[in-house]
Amino acid sequence: MNTNEILRLLEPKNQNLPKISTDTHSKKYDLIYIPLFEGEEKFIQKEFPFLKKVKFSGKKEESTEIIHQNKRIHLIGLGEQKKMTSRTMRRFFGKTYLSALGGKPKKIAIFSPTEWWEDGAIGIHVAALNPEMLKSNPKKTPAPEVVLVNKNGKSKEAAALLKRGMIMAEGKNLMRVLGTLPPNILTPPVYAEVIMKLAKQWKVKCERASKKALEKYELINAVSQGSAYDSELLIMTLEPKTKTKTATAFIGKGLCYDSGGLIGKQNHMKSMKEDMAGSASVLGTVLNIVKGNLELKETTYFVMGLAENMMGTGAMRADDIFTAGDGQKVEIMHTDAEGRLVLADAICYVKNNFKDVHRYYTIATLTGSCVVALGTIYTGIVCNNEELKKETEEAGKVTGDYVHASPWDMEYDDCNSPIADVANLGEQDRDAGWIKAGLFLHRFVPKDKKGEPTAEFCHFDIAGSIDMDEKGKAWRQKGFNSGIGVRLLTKLLTK
Ligand code: BES
Ligand code: ZN
Ligand code: ZN
Repeated sequence: MNTNEILRLLEPKNQNLPKISTDTHSKKYDLIYIPLFEGEEKFIQKEFPFLKKVKFSGKKEESTEIIHQNKRIHLIGLGEQKKMTSRTMRRFFGKTYLSALGGKPKKIAIFSPTEWWEDGAIGIHVAALNPEMLKSNPKKTPAPEVVLVNKNGKSKEAAALLKRGMIMAEGKNLMRVLGTLPPNILTPPVYAEVIMKLAKQWKVKCERASKKALEKYELINAVSQGSAYDSELLIMTLEPKTKTKTATAFIGKGLCYDSGGLIGKQNHMKSMKEDMAGSASVLGTVLNIVKGNLELKETTYFVMGLAENMMGTGAMRADDIFTAGDGQKVEIMHTDAEGRLVLADAICYVKNNFKDVHRYYTIATLTGSCVVALGTIYTGIVCNNEELKKETEEAGKVTGDYVHASPWDMEYDDCNSPIADVANLGEQDRDAGWIKAGLFLHRFVPKDKKGEPTAEFCHFDIAGSIDMDEKGKAWRQKGFNSGIGVRLLTKLLTK
């Protein structure tokens, strides 16, 4: 598979996604889904008088099928209205779409208020992504059309919400398809080429750091020493309409494969092709901003550090010491703690080249410790600024990409080495490893003479929340990650 074939797979038109249209009444449809909150009986009776006799309480998970004049009508209980969130809404649409597929319908009508349409479009297009598309001979069953039905469906705002949802889904699905591509195909140089070509399509400025420019960044280079491919660093730059004095950097871990290096992962290696999910979420965020024509808060550098952590005669050893792009010497304690090396040098690159950056976001499938602590439900964040932490938590609630903040306490910062400046592992790394990994990264964030940080820092550990469950979920099909982070960062970076 070459880069053009990969780019083809990333396009929604080649993903067999359903067309989503809207209508102001449901009369012409034979398959109709009607979601209802608890206590909405009156609403059913008013909108659908023929359902008057049906007893339906709207309790969560309650569902009834009614056949009326050859129409199949599904009433779906959503539970208490006040408990409904963007996340449950997305899942409702995703589940509904997937459960309807079984009957091979041509059209599916879903009765829904227009305020739900952004979540609706995301839920449907995320659910529809099918691993079949990657096979040599994909089944050619065309996706049914989904019609969102609401009386106010003709309004400009409603159309805008639907469009926005479809773009958001495209950003998430970009991350999801890239994550699923096998590591022998999506190698660091191929991935770098894909990024360059996407930037060209999107008309976004993109720089691919040369080997020469990366020479002094020994940490990022060390990670790929055992690999047939060099590490890569790519930076896309987006400006708001009115230029700002300060800038944000959003940096993603792009490990095309993490075998664990010489120490190895043994039987925990499967799914480590997804170790580039952080970088793919950076890319998905750029897509959202560009295609959604969203206004950035300030100049933003979107940075992707690509590498492949392999075993080989040249591979980095535990005991090696490398110099980071800012001169700090780092002792390798563990060859599997490679993501932080890539990110640390990416931070150094930004620090050395873009003096206007006052806020650093990093996103990575960084630690198994975060999976143990938070499971697949919440993204772990490590943040040095109380206000930014609150803003991130709030954005997480709104977008449904939930985050949980670690304590911010330097007592956790124990990545010390007796002979170098820093170690790539905490002294007691079995305890709170995800916090210690975040604090390792913080060692590279700009500091003043007293050692106080001069920039804000918020790190996202998505090792658990990419939710690589190969079995799939009721609201999304097997084979793809959750697309976490794209919507959250889009919200955080834009007005
Ligand atoms: N890529 C892994 C983290 C990971 C684990 C991602 C599980 C997704 C699911 C990372 O590079 C790693 O191996 N981390 C080590 C760090 C340890 C050696 C300090 C880990 O978490 O075990
Ligand atoms: Zn690792
Ligand atoms: Zn890794």
